[in-house]
Amino acid sequence: MHYSTETRDHGMRHDPFKALVVPRPIGWISTLSADGVVNLAPYSFFNGVSDSPPMVMFASAGTKDTLRNLRETGEFTCSIATWELREQMNMSSATVSAEVDEFALAGLEPAASRFVKPPRVARSPAALECRHWKTVELPFDPKRPQLAYSVVFGLVVGVYIDDAFVKDGRVDTGAMRPLARLGYMDYSVLTPESVFSLNRPQVAGDGRSATVPGGAWDGNYR
Ligand SMILES: Cc1cc2nc3c(=O)[nH]c(=O)nc-3n(C[C@H](O)[C@H](O)[C@H](O)COP(=O)(O)O)c2cc1C
Repeated sequence: MHYSTETRDHGMRHDPFKALVVPRPIGWISTLSADGVVNLAPYSFFNGVSDSPPMVMFASAGTKDTLRNLRETGEFTCSIATWELREQMNMSSATVSAEVDEFALAGLEPAASRFVKPPRVARSPAALECRHWKTVELPFDPKRPQLAYSVVFGLVVGVYIDDAFVKDGRVDTGAMRPLARLGYMDYSVLTPESVFSLNRPQVAGDGRSATVPGGAWDGNYR
């Protein structure tokens, strides 16, 4: 199969694009409306885009409560959605009306953030506290204007990590069991068993060849 995205003649019942850009991390995003109503929703068009300064992005299909709140109040948090919290994460994606607090809907406790006003998910092992930087409106198909995407970029101004997941000075990401989004209604989960390390290639002095140190991580962050 080899198809054009203009004609979308893939012949399948569902567009395969999201099943190919995988695995996608899930930003479990909380915001506050101008009236102070808390909102929580998962976004898998989400990623880190820079670590100096640390920045994240997420993309909203049309104007949802999260985007509307951000325009009003300019701050958000991204909690890590984990295997343990998969049902709550899913429930928080329900398209309920704007005055509904999805923390309550999903049976989740909020925890106060330190640097921004929206709370994080208390049971989530890590959360990023973010300030809105810029929103970029993406091109859209005039036949499907409801799917016009806005990409929100945020500066990470605070980071919460549950100390139970810090081991030997490193975050034990696998132990958090973060969820990843695939296509359709499929997900995957990162586990300690699925994490592996590779040393980066060491380039020879003449810059023309490289070798990879074998074995465990040699401690060099190349
Ligand atoms: C795992 C998961 C990932 C999602 N990712 C996105 C996304 O990247 N962009 C989007 O617009 N909606 C996404 N959704 C749907 C939103 O979560 C859903 O529309 C939600 O009601 C939006 O909430 P809000 O109106 O409170 O912002 C996702 C849903 C799930 C379950």
